[in-house]
Amino acid sequence: MKLVMSLLAGVLLSQSAMAASDVSLKQAYAPHFLVGTALSMAQIEGKDPAALGVVQQHFNALTAENVMKWEELQPKEGDFQFGPADALLKLAEQQQATLIGHTLLWHQQTPAWVFTGPDGKTASKALLLQRLTTHINTVVGRYKGKVKGWDVVNEALNDDGSLRDSPWRKILGDDYIVTAFQLAQAADPAAELYYNDYNLYNPEKRQGAVRIVQQLQKAGVKLTGVGMQGHYGLDYPDLQQVEDSILAFAATGAQVMITELDITVLPRVDDNAIGADISLNQKLQQQLNPYSQGLPAAIEALQQQRFIGLFRIFLRHSDTISRVTLWGVNDQQSWRNNWPMQGRTDYALLFDRQNQPKAVVKALLNLVDEVKP
Ligand code: XIL
Repeated sequence: MKLVMSLLAGVLLSQSAMAASDVSLKQAYAPHFLVGTALSMAQIEGKDPAALGVVQQHFNALTAENVMKWEELQPKEGDFQFGPADALLKLAEQQQATLIGHTLLWHQQTPAWVFTGPDGKTASKALLLQRLTTHINTVVGRYKGKVKGWDVVNEALNDDGSLRDSPWRKILGDDYIVTAFQLAQAADPAAELYYNDYNLYNPEKRQGAVRIVQQLQKAGVKLTGVGMQGHYGLDYPDLQQVEDSILAFAATGAQVMITELDITVLPRVDDNAIGADISLNQKLQQQLNPYSQGLPAAIEALQQQRFIGLFRIFLRHSDTISRVTLWGVNDQQSWRNNWPMQGRTDYALLFDRQNQPKAVVKALLNLVDEVKP
């Protein structure tokens, strides 16, 4: 009896060991789209080796969560810092993963000097244009042939679909988006070029993004796809609106990629917390931090349903969707612990704080088989 038990245990053990190494999101979804993740500086430096194991097993596209933003690459004028970005490139090569560049032009995480002239006042149009040209040429040039595609412009739209009055727009004028894409195209003609934003399920903002795509097309400039960031919650967005946006972008001829997917499980003070305006920093309220001791199974199940609902749509439109990237590897790393409110315990991703797959991973693996033609 004892022997039988231990044999049985051995079989069970080897089965679960097999299951753990056999199942892989990147393999399961390979016929449909890339499955990516975003790496933090600490992860790139190898400080979370277990996370890198998860990446190796499950993800085949890598985005820098921060290290390819302007403030990291060129903190002072002309002082380019490529160490961490180069390390990410090396990691991507080791892991045979596709490298995505995020991001060339944004109003956030861009140092103040970029918009300031020698007299301390607002930079002139000519000066800002020259700085943008240098930045894009240097960065895109360095990673030419290595970065598959760039988020050329990030978050140029207001939620009502009008153009955000960022310093870029104020100084360069409305065609700054076309200019940025032209520069990126010239620096690496083979690279894919994306427009990336949050809340693109919102019909007004969707129309704004369609206008940007059409503006680029009219100017004869390359635009490969629209990146829908995908910072979502348990009760938003309406999945039908997500699908409608995918269809609207596809109708322009653009590809779609989901670039920064996460699903917060935490309550919010107000609807400002919908989206991803990183300048928002709401005061910590402990009653809005209900799961610091652990996530109730019922809430995790709700989140799993949201992920499944979304991936069902992504699979249905896999002819349009080339990549789905999660905004981080594990719940510990997720920026949602600190946005829109610092210091909470969120559970926004697919792997837990110990880098173990949450139940949703198995569900997403099963989903692929379920929807097979
Ligand atoms: C976030 C990072 O995850 C944080 O670590 C950082 O402090 C702020 O930026 N939209 C984007 C991403 O395009 O670059 C942002 O990433 C999240 C919102």
